[in-house]
Order: sequence, then C-alpha cells, then structure tokens
Amino acid sequence: VRLDDLPTPCLVLDRPVLERNCARIAALAARHNVALRPHLKTAKSAAVACLATRGQSGAITVSTVAEAAYFVASGFRDLLYAVGIAAPKLDALAAIQRGHGARITLVTDSVDAVRATDARATSLDAHFDLLVELDTGGRRAGVDPDGTDLLPLAWEVHASAALRLAGVLTHAGHSYHARGVAEIRAIAEAERAGAVRAASRLREAGLACPTVSVGSTPTVVYAERLDGVTEVRPGVYTLFDLHQAALGTCMVEDVAVSVLATVIGHNRQAGRVLIDAGALALSKDLSASEFRGDVGYGLVCPAPVGAAPLAGVCVLDVHQEHGLIGPVAGAAPPWDELPVGARVRVLPNHACMTVGPYDRYHVVEGGVDVIAEWDKATGWR
Ligand SMILES: Cc1ncc(COP(=O)(O)O)c(C=O)c1O
Repeated sequence: VRLDDLPTPCLVLDRPVLERNCARIAALAARHNVALRPHLKTAKSAAVACLATRGQSGAITVSTVAEAAYFVASGFRDLLYAVGIAAPKLDALAAIQRGHGARITLVTDSVDAVRATDARATSLDAHFDLLVELDTGGRRAGVDPDGTDLLPLAWEVHASAALRLAGVLTHAGHSYHARGVAEIRAIAEAERAGAVRAASRLREAGLACPTVSVGSTPTVVYAERLDGVTEVRPGVYTLFDLHQAALGTCMVEDVAVSVLATVIGHNRQAGRVLIDAGALALSKDLSASEFRGDVGYGLVCPAPVGAAPLAGVCVLDVHQEHGLIGPVAGAAPPWDELPVGARVRVLPNHACMTVGPYDRYHVVEGGVDVIAEWDKATGWR
C-alpha cells in the first residue's frame, strides 16, 4: 500500500522519527536518573507505547477510561490515570484492574472526591493507589504545595481503607505559553521544587510519599535538575508538533505525525486551495500561532514522508470537512504544486488534539510506502 492508495483524511506516522523522539526523551530521563512514565494520551497507541517504554519498566500514563481499557488489553499493567477521579468511573476501572491483574493509580485534589472514591471502591471491594495533585503554577487542578489544603487531603487518603496514598503529582501545563528557554527552565524548576516540597511536608507529617511525579514535554526537555523527582510524564514528545517546534523543544523535522489529505478544488477568486481535511481532521487548535504568524491550522507538505513544508503557505481556514490552503502573505498559493487530486500532508499545531478522534495510524518509514497499520484508542467510555 502507498500513500496514494489511502482514503483521506487519515493519519500518517513516520516510524523512524517516532523512534528517534522516544529514544531522545528516554535518554534525558536516564540522564536525570528518573523513571519515564510516558503519557499515552497523545498517541493512544499500543505500538507507540511499546517504543516509548523500551528499556523502561512499562509504566504509562493515560487520560481516559477507554485508554486504560485499551492499554491493559494490550498488555500494560502499571497505569496512572492522570485526570482527577470521578467516583462513577471506578466500576470500569476496578473491572479493568481485576480482569488483568493491573494496577491503576488515581489522582485527585479534592477531599470530597477522596470520600466518594473511598465509598465507591469499598462497595466494589477494590483498592487503588492515589496521588495527591499539586498546582505548581499551571492553575488547572491541584492544591498548593505550600498551602493548608495539602495535609488534610493527604490524611483523608491515608484514612481510607480502599485507597493507598502513593505520593504527589503535578503538571506544569503553563510551560506551553513560555517565551524562551529561560522561562521554560524556571517553570521546570518551580514544578520540581513544588512537588519536592509537598513530598517533604507529607513525609515530615509521618505520611508515605514514594512517588513524586512531574512533567510536561517542555519542562522535561529543559529541566536542569530533577533531584527529588521519581518519575516524569511527558507525552506529546512521542509525536511532537508545530507548537512544540515553536517552543523550541523540537525541530519541524521531528514532527512524526501528519494528516494526509487530497486537494479537492481551486478557488481562484478567493486564492485558496481546498483540501478534504478540515476542522474535524486537523482540529481547530491554533496554539503555534501564539508564537509565529505563518502556520494557521497547519503547515502543508508534499505527500512523501520526510518532504519539508511548502514555503509561504499554510491551512488558513477550516470548515468541518474543508481545509483552505492559502498564502501566508500577499501572493497567490502555488496552484501548480497543488493540483486537484494531489495528496498533501498537514503538520498539526497540537498532535494530541489532531490525532485524538482517529482510530488508526498508517505507518511509513520515509517516502510513500505504508509498512503497517497501527490501531489506537478513541473516545472516553
Ligand atoms: C497530568 C498530565 N501529565 C502529563 C502530561 C504530558 O504533557 P505533554 O503533553 O506536554 O507531554 C499532560 C498533558 O496534558 C497532563 O495533563
């Protein structure tokens, strides 16, 4: 099978680049002497998880019940479900744990959620490890590592017979808006230091805190020190994307995934080349636009994997199933390079958002020959 034979839109995955990305971050974790628990919410693929955990314990991070079920069915046994737990999900999670002898670690920042989780787990005769979530500057979820909520929350977990306090977790998601390496480094250090301070407070209070879990791709790439941390959880580094390239955590050549699309029309009046990959196929994520004005909803490459993006054009607009390629500034799009019927690949702004809905990857090792099809998880359940 070749790229020209595939129905579009579809996902194309460059295996050598994926392997290179996985090896690069595994080496970084090893250099810092911390375990790597890759976040598979990005790729949602067992084949990618195997590459990302090569040489590691096999521990992974997930973000949905569907991912937990999928990865356990694929042989993974040590999962961290790193979204604040809602007790009704325990029925499915307990069944997944029990059916496969797996361990699923939960996360919360809420005493109410601990109580509801304890009650539900007890009624299911199930046991879970649980990490207390910390806010080290991301302002999404988590208690203040230095605040008054931390110890009461940890004691509440400790008091539960169904839950075991496994430690602390934080995710410095605000690293995605950092301007320059110095700012990412400062965020990485605040992430590390906050998690380590919270762990010390737990231990000084007589509570156990074996796990100190941190990480986003930017903070793991640029952390200068990770002492006191036990594991890191980057995820988007497996595939990388234009937002990461704009942040400087990778080069555009490191983006391993793209959306294959077909040119379906030329709107000469509007100066747009139409493709059959729109908002659902690419997502409406404009994250890289925070840093550069020339990427729109994605950069457009010739179909062969490895070919560099076409200069001066991007996907300027998206409708549900239409993408509109146009010039970044002034001039008309290169009509002759994008004839109707041609195949192109669009590099995504944010790989996690783009690949989420797809059910498979078409795997290529450079060029146009598809060497494998890899399944992936979708949905929530
Ligand atoms: C809790 C948690 N951990 C780790 C990650 C991975 O970070 P990144 O996508 O920057 O690799 C995320 C991403 O959103 C996350 O929410």
